[in-house]
Amino acid sequence: MAKTRSLLTVLNGERLDPTPIWMMRQAGRYLPEYRKVRATAPDFISFCLNPEKAAEVTLQPIRRFGFDGAIVFADILLIPMTLGRKVWFVKGEGPKLDPLDMAEIGSMSVGDVEDHLGPVGETLSRVRAELPEETTLIGFAGAPWTVATYMIEGGGSKDRLQARAAAWRDPEAFDVLLGHLVESTARYLVMQARSGANVLKIFDSWAEGLPETLFERVVIAPTRAIVEKVRAAGITVPIIGFPKGAGLFYARYAAETGIDAIALDHGLDPVWADKALPAGMPVQGQLDPSVLLAGGPALDSEIARIISAWKSRPHIFNLGHGISPDVPIAHVERLIEQVRNRGR
Ligand code: CP3
Repeated sequence: MAKTRSLLTVLNGERLDPTPIWMMRQAGRYLPEYRKVRATAPDFISFCLNPEKAAEVTLQPIRRFGFDGAIVFADILLIPMTLGRKVWFVKGEGPKLDPLDMAEIGSMSVGDVEDHLGPVGETLSRVRAELPEETTLIGFAGAPWTVATYMIEGGGSKDRLQARAAAWRDPEAFDVLLGHLVESTARYLVMQARSGANVLKIFDSWAEGLPETLFERVVIAPTRAIVEKVRAAGITVPIIGFPKGAGLFYARYAAETGIDAIALDHGLDPVWADKALPAGMPVQGQLDPSVLLAGGPALDSEIARIISAWKSRPHIFNLGHGISPDVPIAHVERLIEQVRNRGR
């Protein structure tokens, strides 16, 4: 009989004990074996687009820790390249893009996504072929709003002020941009599912701090459009949404976007969330990455609190955001041991 995939079981609505676990940014700089492969790549983008290296670093945390899910090694900022934008990473500073002027949007078009990002599809097929059968393979993309903020700001920014202003000032051009991002992202996710992804996750890392009017327009509507396009292409794998920092709007996001499961950040009150989210919807989260860095008794008690908070819903254990590069490996080992052995 085929081995079951615990992550998929939970995403299909069943509670499991122990709770399955994976970590956002589990392939990354806290791992010495990652840094070793990273040092052989000329730059971050070519690293993401090198199926051999990307597959290797995707598999590393599975070999070392035996997580229940593997997330393909890539980045949310590959998509702007399919719209003809330049993207590069500066060491110690993070991502850089040529800032998009709204006047340029009229001449922008969706390029050949499958051609540009074909290497990510190849990474997925390689990883799927090498993963243990019971490990779930996760594909992902950034949500249009989060990706648009990087495109307009020319990189990361403190409060996305320019992107928010552009959405108010020039709603028509902004909606055209979101529409292009919906189209390219949906095609990218379809390609990932066809290449072996068992689950898809949409990262809206900058969903926080928006008034409801804007949240509806730039977060909910484009996400719903992506889910509809992916389903229209015949893709049936579960889709996890992550509107990080959405606060009370988590409820509308979960009910209105068509996603199957929801990733919760560490700031969200689980008692409120359990009442506000659609009945039975699987949740993923929500350990504060800073307690994983701290370790010690605080880590153990936070793990216990989160497992107990979600004992009435299908739950996948994860962080509320990505692991930081300075986390000691012993803390990750402790986390996995606690989640696997605590039970409910
Ligand atoms: O293990 C995994 O989670 C898979 C790979 C993954 C990466 N980025 C690799 C990466 C995933 C899922 C992402 C998503 C991503 N990328 C998001 C959404 C999730 C989140 O964290 O909110 C965002 C906002 C980005 C954009 C991005 N990529 C930034 C802001 C940075 C710089 C951050 C930093 O700490 O330097 C990156 C670079 C990046 N993406 C790294 C990794 C492992 C580190 C760069 C390196 O190794 O040189």
